[in-house]
Amino acid sequence: MSTQADGSLSGRRLLVGVTGGIAAYKSAHLVRLLRTAGAQVRVVMTAAAQSFITPLTLQALSGSPVRTRLLDPGAEAGMDHIELARWAERVLVAPASAHFLARLAQGLADDLLTTLCLASAAPLWVAPAMNQQMWRHPATQDNLALLRRRSVTILGPAEGEQACGESGPGRMLEPEAIIAALADGFRARTLEGCRVVLTAGPTREAIDPVRFVGNRSSGRMGYALAQALAGFGAAVELVSGPSGLEPPAGVTRVVVESALEMETAVMERIEGCDLFVAAAAVADYRPEQVAPAKIKKSEGVFTLRLVRNPDILARVSALPGGPFTVGFAAETERLEEQARAKLVGKGLDMIAANQVGGTEGGFEREDNALLVLWRGGQRLLPMAPKTEIAEQLARLIAEQYHAQATGQDP
Ligand code: C5P
Repeated sequence: MSTQADGSLSGRRLLVGVTGGIAAYKSAHLVRLLRTAGAQVRVVMTAAAQSFITPLTLQALSGSPVRTRLLDPGAEAGMDHIELARWAERVLVAPASAHFLARLAQGLADDLLTTLCLASAAPLWVAPAMNQQMWRHPATQDNLALLRRRSVTILGPAEGEQACGESGPGRMLEPEAIIAALADGFRARTLEGCRVVLTAGPTREAIDPVRFVGNRSSGRMGYALAQALAGFGAAVELVSGPSGLEPPAGVTRVVVESALEMETAVMERIEGCDLFVAAAAVADYRPEQVAPAKIKKSEGVFTLRLVRNPDILARVSALPGGPFTVGFAAETERLEEQARAKLVGKGLDMIAANQVGGTEGGFEREDNALLVLWRGGQRLLPMAPKTEIAEQLARLIAEQYHAQATGQDP
């Protein structure tokens, strides 16, 4: 694992919270890996967590006494809870149960872990783990949206077989993935001072005042990428088509509807911008005429004449002295060949291609796999949640952007 090699977790002070869920058994492995990576680890367990794993196990693995109670005179005499909150450079709660997330969202401080989360100024990271129905429940999703707005980093969850016998989203990310994300969180802000314009989501091309031609893009990939790039220190302006998603913390968003509106919004912001990322699924065509009133149905065939929309990405990449450009390609066949042709044809610096149309990732899904190509190389980012893929892609973009700026291989 690179975390040890680059020392990014070495010496870091991590407060690991463990809440009550079957995934608590994985926190033993997580704590062990963190210690192996050189981190200093203090563990706090909720009452429910102790039904799944004992404090003694985590004490042995973390090398420090495990705290379980808020008002514990013995423990408070050592490092009191405010000191512990100040000591932590990161608070990581893994697994984070639905109940814990709800308490966190409410700002409760009814046990040691929730109190520490309130008392600590350190970034808070949570790795949710729960039954897929509990994960999907609007109450949980609302709590998560609130926590995201408060800049809590949500890691995962992964999708798949669950301990309860069901299948779906809600599995805790594997400890290795959590550690990789944590290490990234400590990375240098390599895009500090960089201005990024990023398009995301679908466009809607009006037919009449009530109808439009649209597509299935959810905007998830673009929003996750905006968040990841902002995490590297970039100033990100997100030009988004209609999407139900909340803008990521620290990202400026402008919402547009059609491709023409998106083009205008992009061109207004592109001057002096360092990176342009086109993650939007822009409609290639729009109705030639927009009917001023709702079109009435009649017998027989209705014909809609469509005209080409401008290619926003190609226009930006043709700008003299323009930004580093990153495009996306969704292809149903010959992925690499088509993506490379698009990279060259549109004059891009990088392209992220995904296979669509099968059972693979793509539109309307939580996870995705990408083949990323640039002139001098390529990398496959295997199937993972879109937030994780976005982190990896943002890192690649930053590497290649700097490599081009300095004329060196990263
Ligand atoms: O040519 P194709 O539509 O496959 O290219 C996809 C890439 O081009 C994506 O990055 C997309 O955001 C961008 N694009 C654009 N404007 C268009 C069509 C596509 O910016 N009108």
